[in-house]
Amino acid sequence: MKKIITKELVPGMVLADAVLTPKSNILFEKGTILTQKDIAKLTFYSIDEVLVHDNEIGEIMTISSLPDGQITASERIKQTKEFQIFKADFEKCAEKFKNEISDLVAGNKEFDYKRLLAPIYELLQKGQTNSAVFEMLNNLRNYDDATYTHCINVALASNILAQWLRWSKEEIETATLSGLFHDIGKLAIPEDIITKPGKLTSSEYSIVKTHPQKGFDVLKNVTISIHVKNAALMHHERCDGTGYPGGLKAPQIDRYAKLVSITDVYDAMTSARYYRAPLCPFIAISMFEEDLQKYDTEMMLCFLENIVNTYMLNTVLLNTGEVGEIVFINRNYLSRPTIKIKNDYIDLSKCPGVYIQEIL
Ligand SMILES: [Fe+2]
Ligand SMILES: [Fe+2]
Repeated sequence: MKKIITKELVPGMVLADAVLTPKSNILFEKGTILTQKDIAKLTFYSIDEVLVHDNEIGEIMTISSLPDGQITASERIKQTKEFQIFKADFEKCAEKFKNEISDLVAGNKEFDYKRLLAPIYELLQKGQTNSAVFEMLNNLRNYDDATYTHCINVALASNILAQWLRWSKEEIETATLSGLFHDIGKLAIPEDIITKPGKLTSSEYSIVKTHPQKGFDVLKNVTISIHVKNAALMHHERCDGTGYPGGLKAPQIDRYAKLVSITDVYDAMTSARYYRAPLCPFIAISMFEEDLQKYDTEMMLCFLENIVNTYMLNTVLLNTGEVGEIVFINRNYLSRPTIKIKNDYIDLSKCPGVYIQEIL
C-alpha cells in the first residue's frame, strides 16, 4: 500500500484504509474503488492524501462510445453557429470586464457599472432561452479558468436563477451584478496564489480567505446597491454557519449572497480544474443534495429543478456503462431521474450504486 495525494488519484484506485471526514464520520470504507465522483468528494472535503493499494486498479466501467457515426450532444452544440457566436461574444465580454475592473481595483470609484452589464445582457439574449445559455456555458468549459471568466459565468447563472425565482427586473439586475462582482476581492490577492496549480499552504489559504472582505472594501464607496457589496462579503457564508469570514447563519446572510453562493459553487464544480475534468452536472447536483442545509432551500430546489429539466430527454451514460435517456424527473431526488434503456425503465432513486456519469 502507498500514500498518494488526492490530485494524483485516478478512478479505479482502491482505498487501503477508510477515509474519515474532518468531523470523523466515515466518508469511504476501506476497499472502495474510487470513481471520479469519489475523487471530487475527497477534494471537496480538503482531504489531501489517502492510502491506496499498490498496482491495484478495481474494475470500473469505461466510457462506452455511441454507435458509429453519431456524435454527442456536446459535440453537436459546439458545431452550431450559435455556439461559435456565443463563444466569441463571451470572450469579448470577459476582455472588457477585465479592463474595466482593473481600473476599479486600482481605486477609480467613478466607474459606470451599467456599461459592464450591457454585454452580459446581450449574451443572455443571444442564447435565446435560459436553458440554451446554460448548455452553452457547460460547453465553454476549459482549463483557462481565470477569475474573469468565472465572474461572467456566475453573473449569467445568477441572472437566470433570479428569473427562475420570478424576481423583479430590478432584482434580476442586482443579482447579475452580485454575480459579476462577487470575487472582485480575488484581484487584490497575489496572482501566484490564485493561479497556483498545487495545494495551497495553510498561510496561502488564509490569504485567499480574505477575498470577501477585500472585495467589500473595493466596492464600499462605489455607487452600487448594498446587496452587491454584501454578496462580495458574504458569498462564502453558509446557512448552517459553517462558512466564512463571519460564520453567519441564514437570517444574517444577504439574500443576494445566498443566491450567488449557489451559482458560484455550481460553476466551480462544473468547470475544469487542474486536477480534474469538469464534473458532470448530475454529480454536482447530487453533491448539492447532500449539502442542502448549507444553502437557502427554496433557491436551491428551484435551481436544481430547472437545471435537471434542461436535461430531460438527453442521452446519458451510467456508471454501469449503459447508455439511456432521461424520461422522468423525481422531484424528491433530482440527481436520480428515471432512465429508459432500450425497453426498460431504470428508476435511479431505487438503485443506490448507479448514477449518471456523463451527459452524452
Ligand atoms: Fe469567492
Ligand atoms: Fe467565486
